[in-house]
Amino acid sequence: MITKEQIIQALNGLQDPFLHKTFEETGAIQEISLKSEKAHVSLKIAIAQTGTPEQMQLQGAIVKIVKDLGAATVGLRFTELTDEELAKFGVAEENAPDTLLSPNSKTVFLAVASGKGGVGKSTVSVNLAVALARLGKKVGIVDADIYGFSVPDMMGITKRPVVRDERIVPVERFGVKVISMGFFVEDNAPVIWRGPMLGKMLNHFFSEVEWGELDYLVLDLPPGTGDVALDVHSMLPSCKEIIVTTPHPTAAFVAARAGAMALRTEHEIVGVIENMSYFESKVTGEKEYVFGQGGGKKLAEDLQTILLGQIPLQQPDWNESDFAPSVYDEAHQIGQIYNEIAETVIEAIEVKQK
Ligand SMILES: Nc1ncnc2c1ncn2[C@@H]1O[C@H](COP(=O)(O)OP(=O)(O)O)[C@@H](O)[C@H]1O
Ligand SMILES: [Mg+2]
Repeated sequence: MITKEQIIQALNGLQDPFLHKTFEETGAIQEISLKSEKAHVSLKIAIAQTGTPEQMQLQGAIVKIVKDLGAATVGLRFTELTDEELAKFGVAEENAPDTLLSPNSKTVFLAVASGKGGVGKSTVSVNLAVALARLGKKVGIVDADIYGFSVPDMMGITKRPVVRDERIVPVERFGVKVISMGFFVEDNAPVIWRGPMLGKMLNHFFSEVEWGELDYLVLDLPPGTGDVALDVHSMLPSCKEIIVTTPHPTAAFVAARAGAMALRTEHEIVGVIENMSYFESKVTGEKEYVFGQGGGKKLAEDLQTILLGQIPLQQPDWNESDFAPSVYDEAHQIGQIYNEIAETVIEAIEVKQK
């Protein structure tokens, strides 16, 4: 007839495969029960890491020991030691790499959305990210426009990310850490994705990329309210949104749909950016409202948010030695506008947080 004490004694000498401490030291045997008539033993064992090949080996060893003692059947459940228990053995959280999605992550997710393509969503994402970095923030950008990735080209990135310790290290440009679907596609080939794959891809971007500490992660979403936008909404419940529109009232109407979805999923809308607002003649200084007027203001009112800024039509100055076709210089008129927008965004978010 076996007893609980015999089992505990026999198992206490086993080692936690990760901590290399005995079960006795780690307090691994958390529950033990014995049904004598059927010689059934059930056990709950706590170890540092579950779901590993080491756990499988350990499982075999435990079952063998208990059966050798005379048990007919063994029920075995594994659980993980708590963080406090692990801390006693000097194991900090570094074992479970802190991802951006961990509950204690301080990173603000900032999704840039629009109702349709071509309104300058990517241009805005890139320049907002650069402006936030110029203001001293730690910034990353995810080019989540999986079909129409454009961020690397816009920022003049020619490098690809490297893999270090099985983690993807983002490419850094203008102080912004960049990850794009474009990095993982050969020769600019078109990418065909089905819904579930998109979600997985995004998940990889959050969990397998070595972002380090980030204050802001800007997400350039695909246009519209499709799969990826939905994934982002469900994956990042605390994501904040910026809606980009052109000044034409119908464009604002389309953009309102993206905004409506943000509201429905309870994503806070930080504000609206109106892009391509006007053209200012360098000769006469006159403003022409080429794409109409009032769309941004109307959209902001409809969504009960603020108009963060209005960006005129103009190309960045191209710099041959540091080529980034869509990034406005800090001294450029539009670069200045992005700086002001970034300041307003920081204020809106960080003041509210306090
Ligand atoms: N304010 C602007 N002035 C001039 N061209 C712009 C401006 N904003 C965007 N563009 C240009 O418009 C095109 C579409 O912009 P993009 O950012 O790719 O839009 P989206 O991501 O919404 O499809 C690009 O060629 C971009 O360089
Ligand atoms: Mg785009």
